[in-house]
Amino acid sequence: MEQCPTAHVLIFPFPAQGHVNSMLKLAELLGLAGIHVTFLNTDFIHDRLVRYTDIETRFSCYPEFQFKTVSDGLSADHPRSLDKFMELYDSLNSKTKPLLREMLASNQLGSNTRPSLTCIIVDGLISIFTSDIANELQIPIIYFRTISASCFWAFFSVPNIIEAGELPVRGNEDMDHLITTVPGMESFLRYRDLPRFCRGIDLNHFNLPIFVTETQRSPQAHALILNTFEDLEGPALFHIRTHCSKVYTIGPFHSLLKFQLEAKRSLSQSQSSNSLFEVDRSCMTWLDAQPLKSVIYVSFGSISTMTKDEHMEFWFGLVNSKKRFLWVLRSDSIAGEHDRNEVPIELVEGTKERGYIVSWTPQEEVLDHHAIGGFLTHSGWNSTLESVVAGLPMICWPYFGDQQLNSRFVSEVWKLGLDMKDVCDRFIVEKMVNDLMGGKEGGVHEINN
Ligand code: UDX
Repeated sequence: MEQCPTAHVLIFPFPAQGHVNSMLKLAELLGLAGIHVTFLNTDFIHDRLVRYTDIETRFSCYPEFQFKTVSDGLSADHPRSLDKFMELYDSLNSKTKPLLREMLASNQLGSNTRPSLTCIIVDGLISIFTSDIANELQIPIIYFRTISASCFWAFFSVPNIIEAGELPVRGNEDMDHLITTVPGMESFLRYRDLPRFCRGIDLNHFNLPIFVTETQRSPQAHALILNTFEDLEGPALFHIRTHCSKVYTIGPFHSLLKFQLEAKRSLSQSQSSNSLFEVDRSCMTWLDAQPLKSVIYVSFGSISTMTKDEHMEFWFGLVNSKKRFLWVLRSDSIAGEHDRNEVPIELVEGTKERGYIVSWTPQEEVLDHHAIGGFLTHSGWNSTLESVVAGLPMICWPYFGDQQLNSRFVSEVWKLGLDMKDVCDRFIVEKMVNDLMGGKEGGVHEINN
């Protein structure tokens, strides 16, 4: 990329791990290209990044880069969890929007050494209020979506699905029924592959209008950036381009960034983290002691939760598979009250023998480790791309949003794994782990879905 000393881009992610992670990578790529970047975090997110990473030191080597923060309008003790999504979304709209407007209107981001803002790259999930400000101040705006192109296209098509009477999904609907109104997906997209919020009779369920409206607004943006690549998602991109004239597919960001940092010989930097959680690196030492491709890595991302019963089904399935496993269990992974002393002895023993449980890992490094042979994942888009790049087959247990659709693509279209959606049963977990990892003794073998 050529240097562009007069360009100055504001990057503003939705305040959640998967969004901040990929947009920081995009910001670093622009920083490497010598472009002035202001990265805007909410105070809550920035405090966590500073607490758990070396983010400020790492970015200090880009003189054209600055962090700014803004309030999300919620109290410090607000959980900002998925079930409170609407509170966060509404607060960004009512409280953060005027602060952002003031910040941009009074040119608080420029300085003697930094040009005025020339472009905004905003997370497409919060485009609705950012684009008002951009239009008012006549600053070009680009939307960035953290989801796959395929999921973007399905969200974009929801009004067509509703018009054709294929949504809402009624209580007695056959969940394997094919949806015929998403161009390019007629032969494999089933009701069960749509986001969970499409399953209620009520099409006004809060998530649906937001995800669909925000996606439908994309053609109004100057351009759209997606963290994907043409070889993987060419068909969906073809359809998106019939509505959005400029679509930039410059992913997978984590791989491009690593490559560029290594090319600049910043090898230590290429392993830096954008984590909002404290990383437990002891799992790397444990992995070092495991045989080649013998371990299944289990992680359900940064937001998803499971019930105590689901947790037990996974645990029994993993232990009974007799495979080695590295499992990420965040402190908030299991919903509701549970007593850790109630664990059956065979799980304690099986885990001591072959398992390792941590609250957060350096995931990209874990997936690159020679001991890892497969990934049991919630099919978040970052995790999916990281697994694809690492060449690892997946078992998918999607939780919400884009994940139901990603897992269908992983299993049915890309043939990179097995889809376990809507099932949580120890015998299925055991069978799928053995199918993925290759019987009782062997390594990874060909996937038959
Ligand atoms: C959700 C969506 O499902 C995702 O598609 C969307 O883009 C953002 O919101 P999330 O649950 O955070 O995302 O999952 P994912 O997109 O996979 O992102 C999680 C990130 O956290 C990954 O980059 C992963 O490497 C990282 N991670 C996860 C760790 O670094 N350590 C861990 O222990 C677990």
